[in-house]
Parts: sequence; C-alpha cells; structure tokens
Amino acid sequence: MNVDQALETRRSIKHFDPSVTIDDDMLRQLIRPVLYTPTSFNLQHWRFVLVRDQARKYELCKAAYNQTQVRDASLVALIVGKLDAHVDAARVWKGAPDRVQTSMQRAIDSLYAGDAGLQRDEAVRSGAMASMALMLRATELGFSTCPLIGFDDAEVRRVLGIPADYVTALLICVGRATAHPHARIGRFALDEVARLEHFDGLPLADQP
Ligand SMILES: Cc1cc2nc3c(=O)[nH]c(=O)nc-3n(C[C@H](O)[C@H](O)[C@H](O)COP(=O)(O)O)c2cc1C
Repeated sequence: MNVDQALETRRSIKHFDPSVTIDDDMLRQLIRPVLYTPTSFNLQHWRFVLVRDQARKYELCKAAYNQTQVRDASLVALIVGKLDAHVDAARVWKGAPDRVQTSMQRAIDSLYAGDAGLQRDEAVRSGAMASMALMLRATELGFSTCPLIGFDDAEVRRVLGIPADYVTALLICVGRATAHPHARIGRFALDEVARLEHFDGLPLADQP
C-alpha cells in the first residue's frame, strides 16, 4: 500500500471486532516509524499512552461519552504533547557540533521559554502530526482507526494518569473494522480549498 492509497482508504471506523488483539511486537511496528514525524526544533513533544487492558478501555469509553469504538478497539492510543518540551533542547541536540548546540539552545529558549501559548500550540501540533502518522501506519498494517476528541479531558487524564505539564492531542482507536462506513460525504472540492500563491489567488482546478 502506498501513501496515496492509505490516505484515500483511511476512514473513521466506529465498529471494531473486540476479539482482535495487538501484541507488543505489532505495537512496536506501529509506533516506531511514527517517531520519524517532524517536530519544531526536533523537540519531539509527543508521548504515546497505549491502552489494551479491557477494564481501562471501558473506563475510557465512559469518559468518551460511551462511544463504543473506544471499548471495542484492540488498542486505544492517547497522544499527548509535552508543554515544556524546550527543556529537552540540550538532550536532542547533543550529537550536533558545539556551535549548532549553542545556537539551537539560544533559539529554542528565546522562542518558547515564557510563552505558554506557543508551548501549547507546539505540543498539540506535534501530537496531531504524530496522530496522522500513526493512523497511516495502522492503515498500512491492515488496521482501521478512529481519531477522537469527543471525551471528557479531565476524566481521561485521571484514568491514564496524565501529568499537568502534558496536553492531550487525540485519542486514536485502532482495530479491525466489522462494519464499513457510509460513502464519504461533504468533502470540499480541491478548487474550493486550494489557492495558488495567495489566500485570494486562483483556485487549483480539479482537472487540467
Ligand atoms: C480532531 C478530530 C476529532 C474527532 N473526534 C471524533 C469523535 O469524538 N468521535 C468520532 O466518532 N469521530 C471523531 N472524529 C472523526 C471525524 O468525525 C471524521 O474524521 C470525519 O467525519 C471525516 O470522516 P473520515 O475520517 O471517515 O474521512 C474526529 C476527527 C478528528 C480529526
């Protein structure tokens, strides 16, 4: 399966076979490539909380307003972003030449330290990019997925023990679909959403 096929066939699936399990080896195959996802200054804000325990999935299902795909998925992954990821600058730039380490540290500190809004934007942005990568990888491995933000944030944080210095980006359900979704509806056309050179520029025509 290539990227184009994965993008086109991925759908948000609401019905999973609860008897399907995902073992640690499959988890590694799923998550490892996701760690290549880019992040600003290589800060890698994301953390992945991987839930397979049935009782915990039940609790998450309740926290997600009883959306049953959370209960029935083989894996429920919560992607969170570290708000103060800039404190890891020295670690992630350690292998670089000294002058690069110094300039990166300076740039990262001046950009993020003291700017809670930007820290949050970046943590969510990185988490969202990783979430999409995870869904594409799951698709390639033959699974279906459903991304979710329909949940009580405080309750999900309580169930999974998420510390206050991490923001939740998305819950992603991964499993084997038992029912296929209705045909795609309501998607905007290419020439409505893509403009050339300027926000008010010419639309990118759907056909040559
Ligand atoms: C940020 C985000 C939050 C979403 N939250 C939910 C949700 O709480 N429950 C759900 O069933 N689907 C959720 N979805 C899935 C969307 O409803 C779905 O992506 C959209 O309707 C398009 O359908 P498709 O993914 O099958 O192409 C969410 C998707 C995104 C990206």
